[in-house]
Amino acid sequence: LYLQVCDGYREAVAGGRLRPGQRIPSTRSLAAALGISRLPVLVAYEQLIAEGYFEARPGSGTFVSRELPSEARLLHRPEGTGPGRAGGRRIARRSSRLARPAAPWARGFGAFRLSEPALDHFPFPAWSRLLARHARTAAQYGSALGDLHLREELAAYLASARGVRCEADQVMIVSGSQQALEITARVLLDPGDRVWVEEPGYAGARGAIAMAGGRPVPVPIDGEGLVVARARRSGRRARAAVVTPSHQYPLGVTMSAARRLQLLEWAREAGAWIVEDDYDSEYRYDSQPIAALQGIDRDQRVIYLGSFSKVLFPGLRVGYVVVPRDLTAPFIAVREAMDIQPPALLSAALADLIAEGHFARHVRRTSQLYRERRRVLVECLRDLGPSWEVVGAEAGIHLVVLCGRRPDRPLALRAAQAGLHVMPLSSCYAGPPTRQGLVLGYGGTPTHDIPGAVAKLRSVVEA
Ligand SMILES: Cc1ncc(COP(=O)(O)O)c(C=O)c1O
Repeated sequence: LYLQVCDGYREAVAGGRLRPGQRIPSTRSLAAALGISRLPVLVAYEQLIAEGYFEARPGSGTFVSRELPSEARLLHRPEGTGPGRAGGRRIARRSSRLARPAAPWARGFGAFRLSEPALDHFPFPAWSRLLARHARTAAQYGSALGDLHLREELAAYLASARGVRCEADQVMIVSGSQQALEITARVLLDPGDRVWVEEPGYAGARGAIAMAGGRPVPVPIDGEGLVVARARRSGRRARAAVVTPSHQYPLGVTMSAARRLQLLEWAREAGAWIVEDDYDSEYRYDSQPIAALQGIDRDQRVIYLGSFSKVLFPGLRVGYVVVPRDLTAPFIAVREAMDIQPPALLSAALADLIAEGHFARHVRRTSQLYRERRRVLVECLRDLGPSWEVVGAEAGIHLVVLCGRRPDRPLALRAAQAGLHVMPLSSCYAGPPTRQGLVLGYGGTPTHDIPGAVAKLRSVVEA
């Protein structure tokens, strides 16, 4: 009752129906008029006095405050009727450029959902125990780089598993590789700086560059990865290149040794940076993992990004950046201006997950699992016919099936209507697409569901 009285008066004052200085009925008479007890009216008047709508004059009564700014009336204008002003509802050009076209094929949780790992195989009981262990201890502000224990574990893991050369003081824990891209872009780029990006490529990388005021320059991908010579021939200087050399996103190409060396050579000559996004490198099925580009860089030109999103789960939002030594200070400065530090609780629990062997066990088990899912998927996809070509299945938890000249968007849309979750390859191009295909994630699709899901896909294709 008291809230209703408050709201009624606020609206009457702000809407101009009660004017500054006007007398308000006494609490007793208002209570009587409304047929309610006096208490809610008293409480409401006190509240309105405290908020400055009313003023009490001892001995004479309660009045609408004479101090009310005339703008108070604007508060209760019907929405969207404010006075027009040129550019009155402007947002920054940078942010308006970020809007991505709708993705009507991305509906719900159907088979082949991209970037989805096998959540039902994650050791949640151990994880819950570790979170509880650190619930009290990880309560303070800490380093902008993140938890030292986790950084030490990561430095050791990256050296042995990925050939990355670093010490713990070069590792920064971040909220997934998307934040790694964002911080890196803010450290490296001035407005207008060009950055080579892969075409087709990861829209999140283009977004992070655009947000920092940079200009993504699409460079085509062929069977060896980024076509460095093509980018160099354009003659335009770039400040950096963002690449996914282990398993190109989305085509799945592994960058050849020759291209890696060309890219490093370019960076050295141009004084440019290479951002190596190693987003799903834990899983490689037909050979040993390919060593990171960072490990063969002799000039400290590579910024290496990794993530736990594919190997553990994406809602965790934990990733890391390995920063060349001379860039640690600007990385820390940007981080402190952005979100100060990563969440301490997650980092502390994750450090123990690695130290106690749960992480390595999980990688071993899921490697087996995904290898099997991939085998079944590749086998089933043969049923689509000879004009369909599977590419990029050597690593990671997704592959691409190229569909020749068939337009991929209507196919993906019809697949979504059939309960599947496939992404059209053409949606990964910044410019006109030169290939059409479907990007299929298999990490989160149980092996026994794959034949049925491919059969559905086949009926979509045949229809
Ligand atoms: C190539 C690539 N980079 C970065 C990311 C971002 O991952 P996250 O921010 O979850 O670590 C993704 C997500 O799918 C990706 O595919």
